Amino acid sequence: MRTQVGIIGAGPAGLLLSHLLHLRGIESVVLERRSREYVERRVRAGVLEQGTVDTLVEAGVGERLKREGLPHHGIELRYGGAGHRIAFERLVPGRCITVYGQQEVVKDLIAARLAAGGDVRFEVDDVALHDIGTDRPSLTFGGERLDCDVIAGCDGFHGVSRDSIPGGVLTEHRRDYPFAWLGILARVKPSSEELIYARTERGFALHSMRSPEISRFYLQVAPDEDVAAWPDERIWAELRTRLETVPGFALATGEIIERSVTPMRSFVAEPMQYGRLFLAGDAAHIVPPTGAKGLNLAVADVRVLTEALARFFASGSAEALDGYSRACLPRVWRAQHFSWWMTTLLHTFDSDDAYARRLQTSHLDYVASSDAAGTTLAENYVGLPYEESL
Ligand code: FAD
Ligand code: DHB
Repeated sequence: MRTQVGIIGAGPAGLLLSHLLHLRGIESVVLERRSREYVERRVRAGVLEQGTVDTLVEAGVGERLKREGLPHHGIELRYGGAGHRIAFERLVPGRCITVYGQQEVVKDLIAARLAAGGDVRFEVDDVALHDIGTDRPSLTFGGERLDCDVIAGCDGFHGVSRDSIPGGVLTEHRRDYPFAWLGILARVKPSSEELIYARTERGFALHSMRSPEISRFYLQVAPDEDVAAWPDERIWAELRTRLETVPGFALATGEIIERSVTPMRSFVAEPMQYGRLFLAGDAAHIVPPTGAKGLNLAVADVRVLTEALARFFASGSAEALDGYSRACLPRVWRAQHFSWWMTTLLHTFDSDDAYARRLQTSHLDYVASSDAAGTTLAENYVGLPYEESL
């Protein structure tokens, strides 16, 4: 078997890449380890930058997103007994974010690929990469062999692609945080119209949502937290303690329909390419979710990779492909910094002394009261413009 681009992973990065390549007349095959049901149900991100929404709409996969997505023009920072709104409409006029579940993006992309006759294979769990340092790379899986011109490693942080690159090529930057997030989805009307990022002495909490009937919450917990230690009553009690900190706010509770613990870490592998293998999304970099950047960065990588591949297949010249990593990394590092910044601004660090806590409060006060500082948060949160310099 042969294709132009062999794509490993049917997450947002792999599926969007396959779809955008199709729109440019370039063939691909997507190989995914999990089942279709599994990837369509995996609850993760929810905040889409303006540029992500525009990318999906322009690619013809934004019809349901436009209909069901919830545009948001601000977020609340809640701490010290008060709420402080970061008003996007004033600080970054004309830009906003849209709340729409990652698994809905994945469903829309799978439907579009299958409707166009795309080749997306699920439950392929033994993918191996070969000859990536040559111009005839290939993939093997389930006794089959797929010859490719190029391979895209879109298989997330724990995939096989990055580890297939010979030792010594990549520089890996990494930071682990001394906490994790317990995320839950609950069948209950959101108690707030906008997202609430809450800093308390007991740790961080986030109130988000998916629809007028479904709410999404996150709690800062210990890094090795066992989800079994969190029965419903404990989750609601802790969310109440961390969110009911301003006068008149009451948290509505309901049936918890999903719960999971996510470790918090920052990671970048540089360069994001080797030979004919190109890494995109979480396969190349991850951020702690506080800045809501991971999925959006995956989309930004894929935009650049699509353009580079289109030029490669049109001209035969690898110049644009050679510039892929260089074109992506400035945005990757901006998101790394912003995600670290939001994480340190809002979480409780056991190692912090009273001085460090006072600094954190002063920083929050500054972001809440200064338009200059508030704009720093807002423009990063809604997403900086794409600068594609291949
Ligand atoms: P993934 O979604 O991880 O997809 C990789 C795919 O590859 C998976 O389907 C996997 O099964 C498959 N795969 C892995 N190994 C193999 C293999 N060997 N062979 C074949 N297939 C393989 N980001 C935001 O932008 N906004 C948010 O609000 C946000 N919130 C988040 C909240 C949580 C709790 C979490 C966990 C993440 C959040 N993120 C957020 C991050 C976002 O979910 C990820 O950055 C995003 O999923 C990256 O997409 P991807 O396609 O690169 O990787
Ligand atoms: C959601 C996730 C995030 O990481 C975040 O910063 C905001 C919202 C969410 O899943 O809704």
